[in-house]
Amino acid sequence: MARLKVAVLISGRGSNLQALIETCTPDFPAEIALVIANRAGAAGLAHAARANIAHRVISHRDFASREAFDAALDKALSGAGIELVCLAGFMRLLTDGFVARWRDRLVNIHPSLLPAFPGLDTHARALDAGVLIAGCTVHFVRAAMDAGPIIVQAAVPVLPGDDAAKLAARVLVAEHQAYPLALRLIAEGRVRVAGERVEITGADPPSRLIWRPA
Ligand code: GRF
Repeated sequence: MARLKVAVLISGRGSNLQALIETCTPDFPAEIALVIANRAGAAGLAHAARANIAHRVISHRDFASREAFDAALDKALSGAGIELVCLAGFMRLLTDGFVARWRDRLVNIHPSLLPAFPGLDTHARALDAGVLIAGCTVHFVRAAMDAGPIIVQAAVPVLPGDDAAKLAARVLVAEHQAYPLALRLIAEGRVRVAGERVEITGADPPSRLIWRPA
């Protein structure tokens, strides 16, 4: 079976990229064919290099407009035959045109249980709100930031004494399980979007909720 050709877009550390790299063993239904960073110094590029994955920097600073930057992204992705784009700590808002062009082929991970706490400083805001459960969401990207059909969620407890850094670290462990699960479901062709909700096709649908991962 042909493996789904995936690109991962990063801006920084790349721990989710690394989790996806480790998931994409030869028997996995997806392969990471391209990694793009919008910052030359993105530490995650080293993960791609180590895994012998094609990687390049497309810096937003080299373009006069968001449209021009997104056009360069699109060209690189299409040129590499990419079928699915995974945003993993990619800190640029994409234009509506790009999002529409990649509709249901563009996914993101956000470190909250969406639709709660989209955007930046999500852990601090969750703590301020006094929530008892936190987590992460893998979702298809829509024009609005951190919105779109939910593919997988992973939940972790908020513990006494948590600060934003402690909570972020616990959620990150969950992220590294949630993104591989979402990628597997998509690559197996089991994910369908109906009425802006995700449905899983086929027999014995696995749980899309990861609860308190070890
Ligand atoms: C993750 O928390 C991700 O959910 C958010 O940005 C962070 C990126 O971390 N969008 P990393 O670069 O994958 O380590």
